[in-house]
Amino acid sequence: MSAEQVIVNKGLEGIYFDNTSICHIDGQRGILLYRGYNIHDLASNATYEEVCYLLLYDRLPTKDELDQFDAALKENRNLPSAVMDVIYAFKDGHPTDVLRTAVSALGTIDPDVKDMSLEANLRKGIRLIAQFPTIVAAHERIRKGLDFTPPREDLSHAANFLWMLKGEEPDPDAVRAMDLDFILHAEHSSNASTFTARVAASTLADLHSSVVAAISALKGPLHGGAAEAVMEMVEAIGEPERAEGWVQEQLAAKKRIMGFGHRVYKTEDPRARHLRELSKILGEKYGEPKTFQILQNIEKAMEPMRAKGIYVNVDFYAGSIYHYLGIPADLYIPIFAIGRIVGWVAHILEQYSDNRLIRPLLHYVGPMERQWVFIEQRS
Ligand code: ACO
Repeated sequence: MSAEQVIVNKGLEGIYFDNTSICHIDGQRGILLYRGYNIHDLASNATYEEVCYLLLYDRLPTKDELDQFDAALKENRNLPSAVMDVIYAFKDGHPTDVLRTAVSALGTIDPDVKDMSLEANLRKGIRLIAQFPTIVAAHERIRKGLDFTPPREDLSHAANFLWMLKGEEPDPDAVRAMDLDFILHAEHSSNASTFTARVAASTLADLHSSVVAAISALKGPLHGGAAEAVMEMVEAIGEPERAEGWVQEQLAAKKRIMGFGHRVYKTEDPRARHLRELSKILGEKYGEPKTFQILQNIEKAMEPMRAKGIYVNVDFYAGSIYHYLGIPADLYIPIFAIGRIVGWVAHILEQYSDNRLIRPLLHYVGPMERQWVFIEQRS
């Protein structure tokens, strides 16, 4: 193909690189399905554990299957002491970096590290789903100089996370909010972090390495970092009546409003509906409705942007929910990862199951055949 014929799809926009049976997104109609099940049904009826089973095994579990799966998660919540040492050693790092480093460390000592069979990869994946909350909570406690709160087997995935984080019996509304947040973040097709995981897996790198790659891609403000940026915006705005003017100023300065816009959704992100409702309820419950009012006013001020297909996305209300639960802003990305780990694992397994190395092209636009110059002659 000559240089003139090359079509560059910047950001790989609109490119299908494989088939999948994990997730379907209709960005025009705002539809999201996990393994064929609508996100609204899952958000209203499922637990995170059930959603994990569905994503990993491609069907809803029976009661017995769910009990066994839940027991496997509970069994694997503790961390090896070497990984606790890593968390202590890097306790002053950003929680996302600590999570990435701890997963890397786990990959060196996982009992199935050399086994690439489906069974072994499922065991590794289940261990990681169970270990992620413990890593994040342990680091949060350790960096605050508090004792590590060991996991409890009588609590659900979401309740146990809040227990380990705070060291106190979690409030049922907070547990439901966390569980719903994990469900809504569990999977989202070929987003940047999942694509990165699949690229790593396509080289037949092991599961832990592929997950480390995914965490790295999640870190940026255009992906997992947006929820934290939204709450910084809420703080900068300060009062609900200032929201509209603030948004106009930012847009006039050609700045982006975090928590809006999406590569695939050109209508409202269906996950945002549930988080908006939660944000309202929790704001009232915890006696802090102002944050929700500011968010509502930002959303209203952004209405003209809908003409360009820019609507609220999953991150817009997520930060406020963590804020109401008293969770520090630098934990928002790791919490996203706690929800998303199952999606990454499902995609890594799907990539392994019918692998072809992912290796797109870059169109070279630099100079051709430059003349070599010896170092003594260079100016
Ligand atoms: N605020 C203002 N304008 C925006 C926004 C926004 N949040 N998002 C996109 N636009 C505008 C761009 O300025 C651009 O305008 P132009 O055509 O006049 O230059 C147009 O919309 C298209 O923008 P692109 O960057 O080309 O769209 P892309 O599909 O690459 O961007 C992205 C998607 C990165 C999510 C973008 O909307 C954005 O930066 N949003 C803010 C960050 C954010 O919320 N990220 C979380 C996404 S959800 C997730 O990852 C979980």
